[in-house]
Amino acid sequence: MVQISEVKGNTRENRTAAHTHIKGLGLRSDGYAETTGAGFVGQIAAREACGVVVDLIKSKKMSGRAVLLAGGPGTGKTALALAVSHELGTKVPFCPIVGSEIYSTEVKKTEALMENFRRAIGLRVRETKEVYEGEVTELTPEEAENPLGGYGKTISHLLIGLKSYRGTKKLRLDPSIYEAIQKERVTVGDVIYIEANTGACKRVGRSDAYATEFDLEAEEYVPIPKGDVHKKKEIVQDVTLHDLDIANARPQGGQDIMSMMGQLMKPKKTEITDKLRQEINKVVNRYIDQNIAELVPGVLFIDEVHMLDIECFTYLNRALESTISPIVILASNRGRCTIRGTEDIIAAHGIPPDLLARILIIPTVAYTADEVKTIVRVRAKTEGLAITEPALEKISEHGVKVSLRYALQLLTPASILARVGGKKEIDVDEVGECEDLFIDARRSARIVDEGDNFIS
Ligand SMILES: Nc1ncnc2c1ncn2[C@@H]1O[C@H](COP(=O)(O)OP(=O)(O)OP(=O)(O)O)[C@@H](O)[C@H]1O
Ligand SMILES: [Mg+2]
Repeated sequence: MVQISEVKGNTRENRTAAHTHIKGLGLRSDGYAETTGAGFVGQIAAREACGVVVDLIKSKKMSGRAVLLAGGPGTGKTALALAVSHELGTKVPFCPIVGSEIYSTEVKKTEALMENFRRAIGLRVRETKEVYEGEVTELTPEEAENPLGGYGKTISHLLIGLKSYRGTKKLRLDPSIYEAIQKERVTVGDVIYIEANTGACKRVGRSDAYATEFDLEAEEYVPIPKGDVHKKKEIVQDVTLHDLDIANARPQGGQDIMSMMGQLMKPKKTEITDKLRQEINKVVNRYIDQNIAELVPGVLFIDEVHMLDIECFTYLNRALESTISPIVILASNRGRCTIRGTEDIIAAHGIPPDLLARILIIPTVAYTADEVKTIVRVRAKTEGLAITEPALEKISEHGVKVSLRYALQLLTPASILARVGGKKEIDVDEVGECEDLFIDARRSARIVDEGDNFIS
């Protein structure tokens, strides 16, 4: 017999990534930061500054501007940006990329940048649509002789019965809708809605009148829709401009066999031309004027921004000035360095001065011993590790002497050593052992400098 285990949603509760403990900026309602809040420790000024940025974004006063998080390695720049995205919620698009991501052989750099710009601009479309909504009580395709004289029969139309709280209705639908219904695998007892003017059909779930029937529990049960079967319904959709680009760039599927094949095979990457984007911008602007849609400028976060080159920076300059533009958050851990793509132009953070001049800069500072200790403690808790106070002290020392990252990285191996040794908590011994097993960057560099070139 086949075992069917319950399929859970793909919540990733068991995985802890580098920033799992960061749940937000941890600000009070008056905008000031608690010393520790939402997993964030210290870095008070930068957090408060980010809080202001979040407020500006939410009140839509910030589009077309850029913020730079500047500070040494491991001072929480990436963590801050992620916290900003938490604070903004899911309705505001947040598109994180790393500077080096745009160098691909497939697309131009500026094209890749543009694509990400458009991923970061949302559009909330509000439409009142005429829909038929209800539980399916009947589903009968009616056949007819093939008008072209072939052998098979064709579906001439589809009879469908829909039941809602207030009444029932029987509809006679076009065969094209039958395809949509088949695609959604609609059966009697499902709750569906059909858009009157486009014929698009969506299966909402299984009617809860059937909730007791035998099934695999993979179903979502929904109540029978209120009101009449035929009604007007406001549908709010959140899309990004990039979604619109993609949807319109892909060749629209017809009903011939080639487009069927095309759908089965891997979708080919179709180019989004500038012309298409302009067309879409035009339509979007019209929607905005007509109050059908609302622009939601989101955030484009470019980590390690010094990896961009001079062409990209010039492009960024221009893109920020366009009327439809997101908020751009940059992060860099470089001080003065050459701008990529130039021979010898040295600039702060590797960003050309003309761009830098229009950016708000938020500095991040190194952590004190106490702060490091609290961060290590928060991390240990997130990873579910028990650690004794002296061991915590010892790991934190590394946070100050070497780097916060090194300290945090020692935690997991130390916990494994503790488990192997049959201990419930990480103790000083394990930390000491880990220090010898895994050396930090500085010690490693020293070994190399002492003339050990590994191959000789
Ligand atoms: N104030 C903080 N509170 C809690 N955790 C922090 C804090 N600052 C940094 N961390 C954690 O320390 C680690 C390193 O921080 P992060 O990756 O944000 O550094 P960064 O400034 O982006 O460094 P880099 O310049 O090398 O990219 C991460 O796991 C991060 O979650
Ligand atoms: Mg980073």
